[in-house]
Amino acid sequence: MHFQWYPGHMAKAKKMMQENMKLIDVVIELVDARIPFSSKNPDIDDLAKGKSRVILLNKYDMADHRYTNDWKNYFEAKGYYVCLVNSKRGTGVKQVQEVVNKACEAKIERDRRRGILNRPVRAMIVGIPNVGKSTFINSFVGKATAKTGNKPGVTKGKQWIRLSKRIELLDTPGILWPKFEDQAVGLRLAWIGSINDDILNKTDMAFELILFLNQHYPEAISNRYDIPPYGTLENVLDAAKVLEKIALRRACLLKGGEPDIDKAAILLLDDFRNTRLGNITLEFPEVENIEQKEENHTQD
Ligand code: G4P
Repeated sequence: MHFQWYPGHMAKAKKMMQENMKLIDVVIELVDARIPFSSKNPDIDDLAKGKSRVILLNKYDMADHRYTNDWKNYFEAKGYYVCLVNSKRGTGVKQVQEVVNKACEAKIERDRRRGILNRPVRAMIVGIPNVGKSTFINSFVGKATAKTGNKPGVTKGKQWIRLSKRIELLDTPGILWPKFEDQAVGLRLAWIGSINDDILNKTDMAFELILFLNQHYPEAISNRYDIPPYGTLENVLDAAKVLEKIALRRACLLKGGEPDIDKAAILLLDDFRNTRLGNITLEFPEVENIEQKEENHTQD
């Protein structure tokens, strides 16, 4: 799904989120395991202040597992409860309920001390478009589709799905807007196909991807396209030469037999998005100076 964000969209999404947040004890936030930083809207930290927080590293099946564990540690160190999830296949989804229970223990205990017993905790799924919210909800809810309906005096118009005696889920996810003033963040969102790339130059995106892969996954392209290893690439001109090789290997040719690099760029991006280049993670907590970036990201 492609999307574009305008100030009106963002204001509306934010208002909706603020309203729903009042009803919620725990926020279950989906991020893409390939770009856990770039797919996370930092504004959610303000919106969800005081709530229990769970992060799902979704699309785990597409990411490089070595780094997904680093990301898990990174978020856990910040006080989040974290699960690795493949919503499409349902892997890891069962553990989410346990983790949500854990995340809410303090809240349940607080309620108990105030004499409130057996009040289910209320959860909401949030995340940027295309991160897998609907897929996750379908998988998470499974057969537990019993809606609790509109109880008189409670949250008119909201539908809650009872997941267990202890948890109710708001049936509509909260849509966060991606935040990509930082070009690198925008590029990563575009690489995974989460922002409308019709307005972007796909060939430039492909050059940048080739340079990234050369640095972090140096064999991914040679392996996929059966091109001899080509060593370290210095710049876009070098990347263009690699794209030419891909074009020739895959018979992406212009009329005169010249390599059609624009066509090869589309092919490369499509292969990347469908994990045909392997499981690839695009950002790393220890390589990026995430702490510093986070500050800038929030100040934007
Ligand atoms: P959203 O509600 O947050 O906007 O996202 P949605 O569930 O629509 O998911 C967006 C795309 O991501 C869908 O692919 C969905 O199948 C895929 N997806 C969601 N979770 C996972 C996951 O854990 N692993 C993988 N590999 N894919 C996931 P699509 O191509 O738009 O649709 P479809 O052809 O798969 O149905």
